[in-house]
Amino acid sequence: MTKGIILAGGKGTRLYPMTKTVSKQLLPLYDKPMIYYPLSVLLLADIRDILIISTPEDIIHYEDLLGDGSNLGINITYKVQEKPRGLAEAFLIGEDFIGNDNVCLILGDNIFHGTNLSDILSKAKQNKGATIFACNVKNPTAFGVVEIDSNRKIISIEEKPLKPKSNLAVPGLYFYDNSVIEKAKHVKPSARGELEITSVNKEYLDTGSLNVELMGRGMAWLDTGTPENMLKAAEFVEAIQSRQGYYIACIEEIAWRKGMISDQDLRKIGEELKMTDYGKYILSLLEE
Ligand code: G1P
Repeated sequence: MTKGIILAGGKGTRLYPMTKTVSKQLLPLYDKPMIYYPLSVLLLADIRDILIISTPEDIIHYEDLLGDGSNLGINITYKVQEKPRGLAEAFLIGEDFIGNDNVCLILGDNIFHGTNLSDILSKAKQNKGATIFACNVKNPTAFGVVEIDSNRKIISIEEKPLKPKSNLAVPGLYFYDNSVIEKAKHVKPSARGELEITSVNKEYLDTGSLNVELMGRGMAWLDTGTPENMLKAAEFVEAIQSRQGYYIACIEEIAWRKGMISDQDLRKIGEELKMTDYGKYILSLLEE
């Protein structure tokens, strides 16, 4: 089985003053809280046991928003990350939650949308070892960067390199086997004082068990690191939704399409939200 962790910690200092009193991943991305987007990815990956990790101040708001997950037919539990000590700490905080299972980690501010997302996820879930993804970006220096050969074998992976060896950034979505817990325990803090996910990935690379799946042109991976990027991501969501009439990251819709909640459950949620377009959309699904 594969469990899921959403890491929604950090101080969001690059978005101050917006995030001075509100956790970044609770801010709206167009018409829904940002965390709906990574949550929808886990649902699409058929992951039913989810741990949300946030700061001591913010965790309560995620609990308020999403509860125990039963209204989506899933289990959601919550844990605190005391200090922003890095992404890899998620596996130490989540050790008991992961138990003997595999785990998918997704960052609470990473947005994915595109054709074949479900297929990409189910392939990654079946791979042995670890799977990262690679997306072409104009400016890779702000990310983990992976270098591959013509057979798509990984040559190197580096965290925020000054001189990137490729334009392939590693998005905040990772699939690991259970050995990730032990591997994370070996990681030493980086110069910025964090347990880097890239260090974990390097351990997999060193043992020949790191896979990479390319996310091509048909996949959008959007960044919400700055106010400008947030606005662009919101405009993207608005453009798709208003043109196609399909919602991005409507978690209730995904749960319903996957048969995790009934028509009746969906109707109840739609009725509660029917003063909004979001609620009207949910109710319209039942008329399909
Ligand atoms: C983190 C990872 C980086 C990855 C990025 C994706 O960066 O360290 O490898 O490319 O997330 O969003 P951070 O957000 O901690 O700067």
